Amino acid sequence: MPLMSRLFAVAALLWLTASAPAILAQTQRPGSGGPAPATPAATPEEGIPVPSFVVQKSCATCHRRDEQNQLTRISYRRTTPEGWQQTVRRMVALNGVQLDPAEAREIVKYLSNHLGLAPEEARPAAFEVQRRLEDYTYEASSDVQATCSACHSMGRVISQRRTRSEWDLLIAMHRGWYPLIDSQGFRRMGPAPTGRGADGRPPDTRHPVEKAVDHLAQAFPLKTPEWSAWSATMRPPRLEGTWALSGWEPGKGAVFGRMVIAPVANMPDEFTTTITYQYARGGETVARAGRVVVYTGFQWRGRSTVGGDDDTSLREVMFVDRDWRAIDGRWYTGGYDEEGLDVRLERIGAEPRVLGTDITALRVGQAGQALTIHGAALPAGLTAAQIDLGPGVTIASVESASADAVRVTVDVAADAAVGMRDLFVGGASKAQALAVYDRVDAITVTPAWNMARVGGVQFPKMLAQFEAWGRHNGPDGRPGTPDDLNLGVVPATWTVEEFTAIYGDDDVKFVGEIDPRTGRFTPNIDGPNPGRAGERNNIGDVWVVASYQPEGAPAPLRARAHLLVTVPLYMRWDPSVTQ
Ligand code: HEC
Ligand code: HEC
Repeated sequence: MPLMSRLFAVAALLWLTASAPAILAQTQRPGSGGPAPATPAATPEEGIPVPSFVVQKSCATCHRRDEQNQLTRISYRRTTPEGWQQTVRRMVALNGVQLDPAEAREIVKYLSNHLGLAPEEARPAAFEVQRRLEDYTYEASSDVQATCSACHSMGRVISQRRTRSEWDLLIAMHRGWYPLIDSQGFRRMGPAPTGRGADGRPPDTRHPVEKAVDHLAQAFPLKTPEWSAWSATMRPPRLEGTWALSGWEPGKGAVFGRMVIAPVANMPDEFTTTITYQYARGGETVARAGRVVVYTGFQWRGRSTVGGDDDTSLREVMFVDRDWRAIDGRWYTGGYDEEGLDVRLERIGAEPRVLGTDITALRVGQAGQALTIHGAALPAGLTAAQIDLGPGVTIASVESASADAVRVTVDVAADAAVGMRDLFVGGASKAQALAVYDRVDAITVTPAWNMARVGGVQFPKMLAQFEAWGRHNGPDGRPGTPDDLNLGVVPATWTVEEFTAIYGDDDVKFVGEIDPRTGRFTPNIDGPNPGRAGERNNIGDVWVVASYQPEGAPAPLRARAHLLVTVPLYMRWDPSVTQ
């Protein structure tokens, strides 16, 4: 990708200012030749031995090995497969390490398995590897939040475990790269405190970066009970078999299907996948095939395509549950990994299971409503008597029934109570599967805030997808209370309107277009626009407005969300992984 090579060029330039030998040395070992760390550890810190032949062959030329097979720097930190891949890429790009792709893969796998994260450690940083656009705030330390989130995601920070010295060396690396970092990112805001605190103790005059590192060393140490427990029981999970797939693709809705997972010979942690699913809305079916590596016993990293066509490729980042019975995560693509679906897999056994329904709301007093129930291992020849949606809801007929799906026609009585209904089907159930409602009181747009980036010339576009959800105020008749009902996605009509920030604001004419039917916003092209005052870029703030007229309602319901259309991400420090 040309973007990535440009990024590496930028990184390489920065690299020239770094003082490599100082940050390479494992400074906590007396006599190792490196300078003393800012805060010396009282006793030499213990690392994790790396007896791997391929790692030693490729890395120990620079990262010295000691008699316990510990390698400087490498043995003193743990992270995700993405974290290791980034480091190895940096070693190749900037330190001239020579690796063929097979060796690089083996090294990343070895390090992710032996210096990885436990499930409990990896979960909180899932948004990072799943590339979710999330407004994450690290609550536990405002110093860390303030000093470490200016240039990259906090997810990168919280997916690391390091010894105290390794945290110090990480700061040294940042300083080497960014001689200006102390006056920019690592800045003290205002003068250091002087007076005693309320508790009578002397003031904490530590610099925010020192406080951040002190916090990180304590909160994210190399050795943890979670890791020692996980690494003792960790093994490649046995995933072969057939799994029920359910998911949600923003803008297109629920999908249901299956995945067949097959082992790869002599590779206990690698699998091939055959995937089929159907969009509940519209019925479009999709068939994909892919390949997966499971790192650290639970971290699914896969890729699948439709018929081998790279343009259809989706990257899969999922977590395998400890019991090997469920797998969940996100499949994504797009210039900014912004498109994709949330997916959950459940192992299909003899037990029948309900995955979901095509519609999620039934109207009071209406006969003949079509409903499809998606599931797995549903009993053959289901009859209406085996399907139960509670009082006032009658299964008028079963149109078709297979192990995966049951199509029924439903009548809802005029006096059926409004509320969520549990669904029972031939021994399986789903709590709060459908809402019974008498009217749509309001709609809401999700997400309430979204971002798009202009592109298409030098940079890719970042698209933004919106959805409109129907709401019922619930029995208390008041909006925003716990008894409100979510009625599911409604087919709204979409427009954009000016978000007036300055006098004569005209962003709406330039930022791009929303598909009136699907709620998908496509930003305009990047670069200065000669047709815009001051040749400004096609960026700005707009409202995305959904309008929906429920059956029988006197006027359409409206709701809106804020969309910021901004510039491309010119520099990206975390190139996405190619597995
Ligand atoms: C040619 C010398 C050289 C080789 C070979 C080398 N490295 Fe490095 N490594 C460095 C230098 C210099 C640094 C310090 C600067 C930095 O962090 O990029 C470093 C730093 C690191 C760090 C610490 C980075 C951090 O996050 O703070 C890790 C981990 C690492 N290397 C892993 C590896 C692995 C794994 C290999 C083998 C695939 C390897 N290195 C091979 C030179 C090398
Ligand atoms: C001025 C911008 C900036 C600030 C502020 C900043 N970083 Fe970084 N950080 C970078 C860059 C650039 C990289 C290297 C990107 C790469 O390797 O792809 C990086 C990489 C990292 C890495 C990955 C290292 C590796 O081995 O791959 C970690 C972890 C990290 N930073 C943590 C922190 C922490 C903790 C703080 C706060 C104390 C912080 N960063 C503040 C710019 C910054």
